[in-house]
Amino acid sequence: MTPAARATALRQQIAQHDYRYYVLDDPTVADAEYDALVAELVAIERAHPDLVTPDSPTQRVGGQPVTGFATVEHLLPMLSLDNSYDEAALVEFDDRVRRGAGTADVAYVAELKIDGLSIALTYEYGRLVRGATRGDGTLGEDVTANVRAIRAVPLVLTGDRRPLVEVRGEVYLPKPAFEAINREREAAGEPLFANPRNAAAGTIRTLDRATVAGRGLRAYFYQVVVPPGLPGVAPTHADLLPTLATWGLPVERHWRRCGSIDDVMAFCREWAEARRTLPFETDGVVIKVDDLAVRETLGATAKFPRWATAFKFPAEQATTRLLRIEVNVGRTGAVTPFAVLEPVRLGGTTVQMATLHNDQEIQRRDIRPGDRVLVEKGGDIIPKIVKPILADRPADLPAWVMPAACPSCGSALVRPEEEVVWRCENASCPARLRRSLEHFASRRAMNIEGLGESLVDQLVTTGLVGDYADVYALDAARVAALDRMGPKSAANLIAEIDRSRAADLWRLLHALGIRHVGEGSARALARGFGSLAPLRAASGEAIETVPDIGPIVARSVRSFFDEPRNGRVVDRLVAAGVNTEAREAGAAAAAQPLAGLTFVITGTLDTMSREEAAAAIERLGGKVSTSVSRKTSRLVVGREAGSKLEKARTLGVAELDEAAFRALIMQE
Ligand code: IVH
Repeated sequence: MTPAARATALRQQIAQHDYRYYVLDDPTVADAEYDALVAELVAIERAHPDLVTPDSPTQRVGGQPVTGFATVEHLLPMLSLDNSYDEAALVEFDDRVRRGAGTADVAYVAELKIDGLSIALTYEYGRLVRGATRGDGTLGEDVTANVRAIRAVPLVLTGDRRPLVEVRGEVYLPKPAFEAINREREAAGEPLFANPRNAAAGTIRTLDRATVAGRGLRAYFYQVVVPPGLPGVAPTHADLLPTLATWGLPVERHWRRCGSIDDVMAFCREWAEARRTLPFETDGVVIKVDDLAVRETLGATAKFPRWATAFKFPAEQATTRLLRIEVNVGRTGAVTPFAVLEPVRLGGTTVQMATLHNDQEIQRRDIRPGDRVLVEKGGDIIPKIVKPILADRPADLPAWVMPAACPSCGSALVRPEEEVVWRCENASCPARLRRSLEHFASRRAMNIEGLGESLVDQLVTTGLVGDYADVYALDAARVAALDRMGPKSAANLIAEIDRSRAADLWRLLHALGIRHVGEGSARALARGFGSLAPLRAASGEAIETVPDIGPIVARSVRSFFDEPRNGRVVDRLVAAGVNTEAREAGAAAAAQPLAGLTFVITGTLDTMSREEAAAAIERLGGKVSTSVSRKTSRLVVGREAGSKLEKARTLGVAELDEAAFRALIMQE
């Protein structure tokens, strides 16, 4: 067999295994056998670079780095769905449909409503050429590069070669992948995603394809759009879905053809309960007229098709006791109340906390500690309190009052007249200091691995650290004496701190925790001034001239540096040797696609030494670590990988084989 023929055969086999794994959930080979096929293909493509094709599985993360999203127009508008909240609404929908169709007999297809974001894929002659988000329905964002990184999406359709077809569906994150991402974010001190839908939407829109590839997005498809005037794919929806599956597209398998609206209601009732057993979030059932000719007759309003409706599952509710209301002190000093509940089962998990936005909201809704309360879990991980059950309230239950003083440092809380949030204004408040230090060390700031919540807590409690600058004066022997530390972890921490001295200026600006300065503004300021000294000296007006910086950020930066205490800490950071120059200027920022990611390399790589691999990662902004932990973003797996691979698998760390790793670093 010629290398060309072998490469083609391998690509087909790999696509077939991807299909079995991602679409049918029924792999027929062990991971190692699959990896061997990929490795063989990589070897052939390396020896014969002219044989590499754009739809080769080795190219899912290849190509140019993503720099932004172009706007694209959909073949036909992507409509939304009208909602039905109860069975009466379903009966009305059915009446309208039958009247519009002019027949008493209408069959439906009921499908689970996937809680993700809609996506439209364009295939030309069977090849994936474009992936777009819904956008405003008419214009979407071109996310082709990121869609290609989703292994559940076939790069080539099997059995369909028409010149142009658009398939539509939903990109989503399975529950276990969502939980793994949030664990990683928690460890890195980053804000958690509230639900899998937000996480999926955030992921598909990131500019870092390695992130997309590593997060485990999946997709389900349920619709086909052909250019007007061309023949459709199937006469009914019940025929269409199996056809999509034969093309190699993932189709959610629990759909059911229903002869009547009663059958539809039975389906909705079943899944209102059974949905908890699914590995993905679903927030309802989509009911669609089965016969596509009848759909034509019914047509659409400006927003919704008249032939479909979304039945929303009722939010899951339970009653429990509100034990007490506590307050949390954030890094900016914002003091926010939250509810501590008697643990209660709700939507398959035990909840014992709920959000309570602010004290005015608590007064307005008359929620009192000791009340029985109705709690509700929508799609979010943290439930909310719907209302107190007044009938159960003891006669003299006192209302809750916002504490007048900070629970951590005792300073009086203040609230500017036009705001709703109370604040502790003591810049050296231990609670604020803890949160600030966690932020300072976090991945998108100074990126000091190992300096997380529990260590920060000990450093502040023991008085070893009283501000950011103290971090750089830490001494290994003292750190080693702390709980759950030892000489080795202390030395690692000191080395990490040492490394962070070289961090780019935007990281330092972000790390300082200046109000209103997030990562984007920090990067803009670093680009605009190039170094710290001129920024510190600049007037508010001068700061405002930087592209992407508005008056609020400019004023906040100015007043931060004007505060003498902040000035002194910054002076000490500079004296400790922290870098104050911007290295990434302008477009160079985009050349750091691996920024914020930590890699571990295991086993032997065939095409490069470990040192070369590490240098490539660092050049692209990533970090290399020698041991696998929850903070590891990617494990690069070479031949004869050992215990690190095992550990990575138990932690759910994303893996890259040598081919995928090369594709990643070649994007430069
Ligand atoms: S059909 C013409 N089917 O729900 C409308 N949509 O709330 C075609 N969705 O924008 C949509 N699962 O993103 C359809 N099985 C399913 C779905 C589904 C999730 C999403 C879709 C749509 C949104 C409307």
